[in-house]
Amino acid sequence: VEETLVLVKPDGVERNLTGVVLARIEAKGYVIADLKMLVPTRTMLEKHYEEHQGKPFFEPLVEFMSSGPVVAVRLQGNRVIEGFRSLAGSTEPTLAAPGTIRGDFGRDWGTSVQKNLVHGSDSTLSAERELEIWFG
Ligand code: GTP
Ligand code: MG
Repeated sequence: VEETLVLVKPDGVERNLTGVVLARIEAKGYVIADLKMLVPTRTMLEKHYEEHQGKPFFEPLVEFMSSGPVVAVRLQGNRVIEGFRSLAGSTEPTLAAPGTIRGDFGRDWGTSVQKNLVHGSDSTLSAERELEIWFG
C-alpha cells in the first residue's frame, strides 16, 4: 500500500489544529500507521528540505520548522500521496481552495515565515526519502 509523510507544522500544533488535521485524514479513510511529536533538528530539516537549499526562503523555513513541536505521521492508503496533497490544498494559504486544510485554516504567510500548517510528500521517491528521515 502507498505511504506518505504528513507533518503538522509548528503553526498547526501551536494553534491546536492537530486534531482537525488528523480528523480529516481519518474521515477520508487513510490509515495512521505511525505518529510522533518532536522538535525537529536542523540536520533533519536540511535533509528534508534539501531541494530548497539555496532558495531565499530556505533559512527562514528551517528556522520556523525548528521553532517548536511538529507532529509527524506515517500515512497509508490508495494514492495517499496525491490524496493528502489534495486535502492540504495549495502551498500558499491565501490561494488554497476552501474545503482544504490550508484553505480553511491557513493565513497569509507574510514575508519571512511559511505558516501553511501541514506538509505532505510530493512523490513516491520523496515519501520514501522523507519517511526515512522522520521515522528511520
Ligand atoms: P510542503 O508540503 O510543505 O512541502 O509544501 P509544498 O510541497 O506545497 O511546497 P514546497 O515543497 O514547494 O515548499 C516547501 C515549503 O516551503 C512550503 O510549504 C512553504 O512553507 C515554503 N515555501 C515554498 N515556496 C515558498 C515561497 O515562494 N516563499 C516562501 N516564503 N515560502 C515558501
Ligand atoms: Mg513540498
